Amino acid sequence: GSVVVGVDIGGTKVLAGVVDPDGQVGRTARRTTPGRRVVTSRVEDALVAAVREAADGRPLAGVGVAAAGFVDSAGERVMFAPHLPWQGQPLRDLLAGRLGCPVALDNDANCSARAEGHHGAARGAASALMITMGTGIGGAVLLDGVVVRGANGMAGEFGHMQVVPDGQACECGRRGCWEQYASGNALVREARALMADLPSVLVEMSDGAPEQVTGPMVTSAAEQGDLVARQAFATVGGWLGVGTANLVAAFDPAVVVVGGGVSAAGDRLLDPARAALERTLVGAEHRVVPPLVAAELGPQAGMVGAALVARSLVS
Ligand code: BGC
Ligand code: NA
Ligand code: ZN
Repeated sequence: GSVVVGVDIGGTKVLAGVVDPDGQVGRTARRTTPGRRVVTSRVEDALVAAVREAADGRPLAGVGVAAAGFVDSAGERVMFAPHLPWQGQPLRDLLAGRLGCPVALDNDANCSARAEGHHGAARGAASALMITMGTGIGGAVLLDGVVVRGANGMAGEFGHMQVVPDGQACECGRRGCWEQYASGNALVREARALMADLPSVLVEMSDGAPEQVTGPMVTSAAEQGDLVARQAFATVGGWLGVGTANLVAAFDPAVVVVGGGVSAAGDRLLDPARAALERTLVGAEHRVVPPLVAAELGPQAGMVGAALVARSLVS
């Protein structure tokens, strides 16, 4: 029979998978994101190729796209994306034309939040915040299982809250954004800086070229007990906690779910974040500080959530 495919496109990779009505993931396929300064059709090519490979010749009933960018209220376009080249192209209809089936489009973190709300760590929570740490930071606010959209469809862009005036330049064009201090990119930057002065297995892992260090390398170095990698996680986790404290002050959620590639590090990331949250949150001693938990669907949350949206279109 026909299949519903979810596809998550971030600044680094494209992940597509067949998702059944219970949220179970079948065949998956990956591609590398072609970049943010390429013609948009190349990114669409990678996306279509990943979807077709996941579907493996089966007819497509619908496709959901979780995109790392600012999606308009109508779910038709990515208006702006710090890590991708789209700027207002009618992406949903373009992809529907190429794939020959209905397509649903939403922000990647919004999709992750939906998936965690249905099948994961935010199940049953009256209110939840989703924070995804990948190339950048994505965000979503879930109230009674529904994603808060805002006037432009762009609510939840937590990654671009300014946390350091005149801080690090961000790919969005501004400075000091939270995602410059608490993302996969931040983790790598931190590790590179530390390994200049301290011994680290990362030197070997990167063949002596710090610019070759990747997020997964830092995670595996930390698992091996590498002090540089562990320090990088402590620093980035601390920033995660500080930003989370601000969000909790604003929304008072029942739970905060952390997903995205970096969250694969689990408590190595979350413990320093929890400590910083306790320390920073206003009135922490007079309230229940929300649990900060890892996404249960891990790096598949965006893809699963995108498929959920696609399924609601076609059934
Ligand atoms: C983008 C978001 C996206 C996030 C995670 C941010 O830089 O602004 O739209 O959700 O990265 O991919
Ligand atoms: Na969002
Ligand atoms: Zn920014």
